[in-house]
Amino acid sequence: MSILITGAAGFIGSNFVLQWLTHSQEPVVILDKLTYAGNPANLQSVWKDPRFTFVQGDIGDSQLVAQILNDHTPLAVVNFAAESHVDRSITGPAAFIESNVVGTFHLLEAVRAYWGGLEAERAAAFRFLHVSTDEVYGSLGPCDPAFTEETPFQPNSPYSASKASSDHLVRAYHHTYGLPVLTTNCSNNYGPFHFPEKLIPLVLLNALKGKPLPIYGDGSNVRDWLFVRDHCSAIERVLEAGKPGETYNIGGCNEKTNLQVVETLCAILDERSPRPDGRSYREQITFVKDRPGHDRRYAIDASKIERELGWKPAETFESGIRKTVVWYLENQEWVAGVTSGAYREWVEKQYGSQA
Ligand code: NAD
Ligand code: DAU
Repeated sequence: MSILITGAAGFIGSNFVLQWLTHSQEPVVILDKLTYAGNPANLQSVWKDPRFTFVQGDIGDSQLVAQILNDHTPLAVVNFAAESHVDRSITGPAAFIESNVVGTFHLLEAVRAYWGGLEAERAAAFRFLHVSTDEVYGSLGPCDPAFTEETPFQPNSPYSASKASSDHLVRAYHHTYGLPVLTTNCSNNYGPFHFPEKLIPLVLLNALKGKPLPIYGDGSNVRDWLFVRDHCSAIERVLEAGKPGETYNIGGCNEKTNLQVVETLCAILDERSPRPDGRSYREQITFVKDRPGHDRRYAIDASKIERELGWKPAETFESGIRKTVVWYLENQEWVAGVTSGAYREWVEKQYGSQA
C-alpha cells in the first residue's frame, strides 16, 4: 500500500515524508513540479530509499496523475502542492490560481476517476487529504475568539482566496461524488527546510549575514506558530482516524506578534552565535512598508482535533524555535545551496527546461 504525496519537495511536505519514512514501511510516491520553492535537497537523506519514488510534474497534469495513480495504486493522496507565499500572490496572483485552484481541480478529477475504479473495500479505505491554511478564515481583531471549523471563510489575499477555492472544491467532491476527503487548516509553521522568503528563515539568514531584519508595519501583527513536525504528526493522525468529509483545524496556541518572534530569534542567536562586535542582533531590526491588505491576527482553536482524534503538539514555541535556530546554524550547506541558487542549477540539470 503506497501513499501519493504532492508538493513534497517543499517545506512541510518534505518534513512529512522524512517523518513518515522513520516509522512506516508503506512506500511514498512524490509528485512535485519543482517550482522555485521545491528543493530536492530537502529529501536528500531518503532519495535512494527503496520505499521512495520521485516524479517531477504538475498536479494539474491529469494524464500524468492518472498514470501515477494506476502505476502505484496508492491508498491515500496527501496534497501539499501549492504556491504558498502571500507576498508573491500580491505581485503575481496568476500562478496561485493556476496551481492552487485549477491544479487542485485537475488533481481531484484524476483522483475521482481512480477512486471510482477501485474495488469496494479499497474504495472505502481510500483517503484524499487536502492540506490547507488558517488564512482562509480571514483576519481577527485583538479580542475575537480563535478560528473554529465553523468560522465562515473570509480570505483577504490572492493566496488565501486561492486556498479557500481549493477547500471548497475538495468539499464539493465529497458532497457530490462521495470522494472520501479530509481537509486540514493549519496555522503558521516553522522549522527545518523553511524557504528563506518567509519571516523566520529570512530573519535568521539576514541576521547572520549582518543584513537588516525587515518587519512590516509596526510589527504588531499576530500569527499563531506551530513547529512543522507537529503539523506533520497532526496530518498523519487525521489520515489515520479523521472522518471523511470533515475539516480539522491544527494549531499550537502560540500567538506572537511579529516583533516578539524576531526579538526571540535575536536573543537565541545572541546566545548561540554572537555577533563579532558583541552587540545584539536586535540592532539589525528595521521597520519597513507594510504588506498590502496585511491580515492583523490569526489564531486557531484546535480543540476538535484534540477532542476527537487525541492530537496535541509536542513542542512549545520556546522549544520549537530553539530547535529551528540550531538546525539553521548546523545546516550551513543546505542554507548555502538555497541562497546561492545551487539547488535550482541542480534542478535544471536534472530536469531540463520542464522545471
Ligand atoms: P512550499 O512553497 O514550501 O512548497 C510547495 C511545494 O509544492 C513545492 O515543492 C513546489 O514545487 C510544489 N508545487 C507548487 N505548485 C505545484 C504544482 N502545480 N504541482 C506540483 N507541485 C507543485 O509550501 P509549504 O509551506 O510547504 O506549504 C505546503 C502546503 O501547506 C501548502 O498547500 C500551503 O498552503 C499549506 N500550509 C502552509 C503553511 C505554512 O506555514 N507554510 C501553513 C498552513 C498550510
Ligand atoms: O497562516 C498560515 C500561512 O502562514 C500559510 O498558509 C502560508 O503559506 C505561509 O507563508 C504563512 O503566511 P504568512 O504571510 O503569515 O507568513 P510570512 O512568513 O510571509 O509572514 C509572517 C508574518 O511576518 C506576517 O505577518 C508578515 C510578516 N513579515 C513577513 C516577511 C516575509 C514581516 O514582517 N517581514 C517579512 O520580511
